[in-house]
Amino acid sequence: MRKILVLFAHPKFEHSDVHSKLLAAIAGLENVLVRDLYELYPDFQVQVQPEQEALFDSDVIIWQHPIYWYSCPPLMKQWIDLVLEYGWAYGKNGTYLKNKYILNAVSSGGSTAVYSSGGRNRFTLDTFLRPFEQTAYLCNMRYLPAFHVGGTHKIDALQLSRKAKEYRDLILTLRDEEITLPFVQKS
Ligand SMILES: Cc1cc2nc3c(=O)[nH]c(=O)nc-3n(C[C@H](O)[C@H](O)[C@H](O)COP(=O)(O)O)c2cc1C
Repeated sequence: MRKILVLFAHPKFEHSDVHSKLLAAIAGLENVLVRDLYELYPDFQVQVQPEQEALFDSDVIIWQHPIYWYSCPPLMKQWIDLVLEYGWAYGKNGTYLKNKYILNAVSSGGSTAVYSSGGRNRFTLDTFLRPFEQTAYLCNMRYLPAFHVGGTHKIDALQLSRKAKEYRDLILTLRDEEITLPFVQKS
């Protein structure tokens, strides 16, 4: 059984429709640890050592967050800036994350159609997520396809509960099964 670490960043979780359902769908699963970054670090003082220990102890890492201004909320960026240190995550002797799997699990107001070359946002969601992909690549990790809930302003309860089940199923697959999804990794 692989160990899953969900790094969750949502500045307004009390108003969340989507992520509250996604987290509820995976609550209490064995070997699935959720770290709520805004709860842990409301002052943005991310503690490097416990974060690195949690990373080292996991096989699959999930950056779970809403898309804010085509990227992640600021505490997720702060977490990346502080925790993924040179000599630990990358660079000389920085091999502690090597071969771990990682993906983004995101929600966006824009639908998949909006996130396309002909759509209002002009680029695909994967294009906006390239900095995460490259961060994972630099750290010798295996970057998996993103899990995406789009069109959040219009999603109805049934669609949302289907997406929540899809998320739970994905996490169970990543925990228990052979991973056959394509991933990006340095050769
Ligand atoms: C400050 C802010 C910035 C946002 N930026 C984007 C954006 O760039 N693209 C987008 O599709 N949606 C954007 N949204 C919409 C959120 O992604 C959407 O409301 C959220 O994913 C819904 O999840 P929740 O119900 O868990 O809050 C933004 C929302 C806020 C509050």
